[in-house]
Amino acid sequence: MSKTEQTSAVDSLPVPPQNPLPFRQQLKAIRQFHTGCEVLRDACGPVTRLKLGPKWLMPRIVVATSPQAGHDILGVSDAITERTQMHAEMRSLIGANLFDVPHDEWLPRRRILQPLFTKKHVRDFGGHMAEAADTIVESWGSAGEVDLDTECRHLTLRALGRSVLGLDLDQQADRIAEPLKVMLKYVSDRTASPVRLPDWFPAPSRLRAKAASARLRGLAAEVLRECRDDPNRDAPLVRALIAATDPETGKGLTDEEIRDELIVFMGAGHDTTATTLAYALWQLGLHPDMQERVRAEAAAVGDRELTPDDIANLGYTVQVLHEGLRLCPPGPASARLVMQDIEVDGYRVEAGTMAVFGIYAVQRDPALWEDAATFEPDRFRPEVARSIGRWQYLPFGAGPRTCVGDHFAMLELALALATIVRRTEIRSSAAEFPMEVPFTMVAGAPILARVAARPGYTTENATGSAARPVSADNTVSP
Ligand code: HEM
Repeated sequence: MSKTEQTSAVDSLPVPPQNPLPFRQQLKAIRQFHTGCEVLRDACGPVTRLKLGPKWLMPRIVVATSPQAGHDILGVSDAITERTQMHAEMRSLIGANLFDVPHDEWLPRRRILQPLFTKKHVRDFGGHMAEAADTIVESWGSAGEVDLDTECRHLTLRALGRSVLGLDLDQQADRIAEPLKVMLKYVSDRTASPVRLPDWFPAPSRLRAKAASARLRGLAAEVLRECRDDPNRDAPLVRALIAATDPETGKGLTDEEIRDELIVFMGAGHDTTATTLAYALWQLGLHPDMQERVRAEAAAVGDRELTPDDIANLGYTVQVLHEGLRLCPPGPASARLVMQDIEVDGYRVEAGTMAVFGIYAVQRDPALWEDAATFEPDRFRPEVARSIGRWQYLPFGAGPRTCVGDHFAMLELALALATIVRRTEIRSSAAEFPMEVPFTMVAGAPILARVAARPGYTTENATGSAARPVSADNTVSP
């Protein structure tokens, strides 16, 4: 079909139906990126239009929750479905990075960074995760009850520091976790707000966000400087960024670009990985039979630290993670700004619309999944998983802007889950895993579980600190 024929075919399509829910319910739903998309779908169908304000104040919003819509929104060139206001807000605060730059700047950046995150390359970054998980488990000692969410945040920060940045972050969670939280909340609040003060206005929230961003930039710049000064410093990701070049032009990244990418890797990789691990541990703490399968698989590797080479033998552990990511995808929705009229699952979505694709909604849709709400890792057995549609399971997104860190995250997660379960028996005390979406989806309350060292594993040689106390506001207490 020629471009003109395509355009007239799109022109002849109907616009998506207006969502019938009252204004307040629509507003509430769009602010709850996870369950909100389900609410909107249940009221109107898989592609629905919202009107939350006049055009000059807010872009039109279309929320879509069918696999075909995922293909039509995320699968096309990101020159057609571009970055949104949220990405612009992030860029104005922390600078240009792979996540927030628009198409023209993104293409060469992705060419440079993609090769760093191949399955083969991430083995250089992911290897320290098992050691970090061992240390965390040792720190539990006879703790009895822990908050899985706090512990997993601590663990991912420790692994990130040790294996990626060459930093000991054990006593310094505040240097990354706190400023990230302040900054991402500001970006999220500002994006959701129909009325925004100009950037130059010294609103207290902006000043706090700018201070947080300055702290992160300072930390990233310090890591980079120290790596350049000390060639023996073990910081594989920073070294890889320094060495990376565009295969087409041979150009590398400037120090400012490396600094800003490091910040987004910390932001994109910390909460997401921690929440996935906490959710998987919580589910295993409710399902002793599944926990035993993970334990047996990890124990069969032998009584030594797990390495990236062992992943091939941790098939069920990986299935548990996939099923966890299905029910609890830390990126529950992806938004794009539509640059030209496009077809989305049989409807015409007009240029200027913000198209939101509900990943959480599609991954839990009872029309697509048998017993959709049930945690069942065996649905990801290789012979069964083949029949899962590409656009109905996409916890790492899909299309050109798919997650660059997916192999890295899965490697770290599998090593961490197998290491913890091999050494510790977990019984979840929390009956629910409440979720909220301050930016990515995280646990909305402490996830309490009783932990006990398994016979044969002792905590006598513990090198870690005591387990962190459970905090009411769910933050990391170093
Ligand atoms: C369980 C862990 C993770 C999940 C569930 C996850 C999920 C996602 C999703 C859904 C997207 C696409 C967003 C969109 O469509 O707008 C994305 C993009 C991205 N992720 Fe991840 N992510 C994870 C871990 C990581 C890690 C460990 C890193 C880096 C070290 C990372 C870096 C990025 C970056 C840079 C992008 C933007 C890619 C681009 O636009 O080219 N993520 N992630």
